[in-house]
Amino acid sequence: MSSSAFSRLLGLRLPVVQAPMAGVATPELAAAVSNAGALGSLGIGASDVEAAEAMIARTATLTDKPFNVNVFAHEEQALDPAAEAAWLARLAPQFERFGIAAPRALRPLYPSFQGHEPLLAMLCATRPAVVSFHFGCPAPQAVRRLKEAGIVLMASATSLDEALKLEAAGMDALVAQGFEAGGHRGTFDGADADADLPLDSLLARIVGAVRVPVVAAGGLMDGADIARVLAAGAAAAQLGTAFVGCPESAAGAFYRARLSRAVPGETRMTRAISGRRARGLVTPLIEALHPFEEQAPAYPYPYDAARQLAAAAAGKGDHSLSAMWAGAQAHRARALPAADLVARLAAELAAASP
Ligand SMILES: Cc1cc2nc3c(=O)[nH]c(=O)nc-3n(C[C@H](O)[C@H](O)[C@H](O)COP(=O)(O)O)c2cc1C
Repeated sequence: MSSSAFSRLLGLRLPVVQAPMAGVATPELAAAVSNAGALGSLGIGASDVEAAEAMIARTATLTDKPFNVNVFAHEEQALDPAAEAAWLARLAPQFERFGIAAPRALRPLYPSFQGHEPLLAMLCATRPAVVSFHFGCPAPQAVRRLKEAGIVLMASATSLDEALKLEAAGMDALVAQGFEAGGHRGTFDGADADADLPLDSLLARIVGAVRVPVVAAGGLMDGADIARVLAAGAAAAQLGTAFVGCPESAAGAFYRARLSRAVPGETRMTRAISGRRARGLVTPLIEALHPFEEQAPAYPYPYDAARQLAAAAAGKGDHSLSAMWAGAQAHRARALPAADLVARLAAELAAASP
């Protein structure tokens, strides 16, 4: 599908999606992006149903344009008690630095969309224009109910196999997530199938092999980057890190400052923080834990302790331990109000288009 067909489907003036970013994307950010002619997104993967519903309701009061609501659709994995104990022991010295004891157990912070009836019912009732999935492929029954509610469905793919599975499951569009992307990698088809493909190679594999529109994500920061992926057959570009510095985002002051000072090569892909691979600015916690990433328990258990540690440190004025997810092109981020950034991207895209 051409970028104009995708934009028509969603009523966009610009074939750009502001990436859903759990904990960072706010109703104010999503609405400002949608009002400016691109597609704003909320990431509710870390929210309970009530908080998610409130975010959707607030966004709907700020824009009458379409917006996207993103959920995590991972297969829940059991926690191995031995891996849990070893991980907590490894973290104990980190907690001691802040004068507190490490937790005695890890909790699964983020319930999956899979089989989560209250979450599905809430989405069918609130009917955002788009629902997107990360970390998995929704079950046929959920796809059917969301489509009956008139919702356009998208999902992240990091390989051709995943893209084909998602298309067969009825997704209306795919998000091809390259290895450069900030935040968690959406891989779900088994870690072994992850070839770590950079965006341009992944796009070349997926575009042409599927009939649905493909949205390109990973390391896209300006209009020339967007022009490049459109020329390679993408229907739109999804940008995450580019929007983190917007005043409408929920990013804290320390994260913004780190982003504004970022230099090339400053991000790392690691599973040491959450149990799933994610790319972010290197923090002292990533430095300490990355060498042991293979020993981290299954997602999302390690995230519980990492977040408790970051909160304890932040309570003592040290914000350096919080996760600051960011893509490989983070050093090119511009801290602009969302509407100005969208206008800038549109002008740059026009200038770069043949
Ligand atoms: C801070 C942050 C949080 C993210 N959270 C989510 C999320 O909740 N759901 C999701 O599908 N993708 C999430 N992503 C990944 C984005 O969808 C997208 O793949 C990525 O931002 C693209 O790379 P870029 O950051 O270089 O633009 C997140 C990315 C960042 C930077």
